[in-house]
Amino acid sequence: MPIQSSVEIVDVTEDPKYERFLYLCIFHTNKEFIGKSIHKTYKHRYEYLKTMIPKGFRKKVLFYKGDHVGMIEYAPVEASSFPIIGENVIVMNCIWVHKSAAGHHFGKLLIEHMKEDKKGTTGFATLGCEGFHRVFVKKDDMEKLGFYSLKSMKVKHKGKKKGGCFTIHLMWMPMVENAILPTWNESKLMEGLYFCEHHPLYHGKHGCAELRFILEKC
Ligand SMILES: CC(C)(COP(=O)(O)OP(=O)(O)OC[C@H]1O[C@@H](n2cnc3c(N)ncnc32)[C@H](O)[C@@H]1OP(=O)(O)O)[C@@H](O)C(=O)NCCC(=O)NCCS
Repeated sequence: MPIQSSVEIVDVTEDPKYERFLYLCIFHTNKEFIGKSIHKTYKHRYEYLKTMIPKGFRKKVLFYKGDHVGMIEYAPVEASSFPIIGENVIVMNCIWVHKSAAGHHFGKLLIEHMKEDKKGTTGFATLGCEGFHRVFVKKDDMEKLGFYSLKSMKVKHKGKKKGGCFTIHLMWMPMVENAILPTWNESKLMEGLYFCEHHPLYHGKHGCAELRFILEKC
């Protein structure tokens, strides 16, 4: 049987049946919320989604033989989770394919799906990372999927004792010739991110909630 017939990419953005997939990384969807709703547990995510879904945010989950093994989320730059600045740019907030499903080109399939869904954009931007000690979209991985690095900065996480300096890259995949290149707001990025409590650069992690900036330059 061709692999495509066992693959389904589902939009989980607005169907309540898929709420867990919308709030959680696909690999944590069994988590229980005893006595508390998912919205209360993930307040920042809730606020982000409430504002950004009407502005074009989308999350898709890839099912392979019925199992959720991959995901991608993206939004127009105005609704994105990263402080990226650009004109008619789509920002990929996150992509993840489970190791158990590697080798089937699901990462590329999710990228193609995003491109098809957001036709007419000048390009796609995201962040990629080098030398970070935790799971986090790596620059190399983003290159394999068609992005290249436009600029970078070397930083250190103030709350994480181990790991030291790492580099964050602004990654870019243009869709038109002579597209105006996106840039980023470095200072905002140093504050950390709020859109997802699971993200390694989430502002509220590692005792950083009271700090204005969770990152410092190396
Ligand atoms: C990046 C990622 C999405 C790629 O997904 P994938 O399904 O494994 O990738 P694909 O199979 O589509 O491969 C894409 C390309 O990279 C190549 N590739 C994949 N793994 C490779 C490896 N280890 N070495 C060399 N090339 C590799 C593939 O051959 C393919 O190129 P091709 O089309 O020329 O053959 C996946 O590795 C991943 O989820 N990484 C973790 C991301 C993460 O941390 N997310 C959480 C953020 S908080």
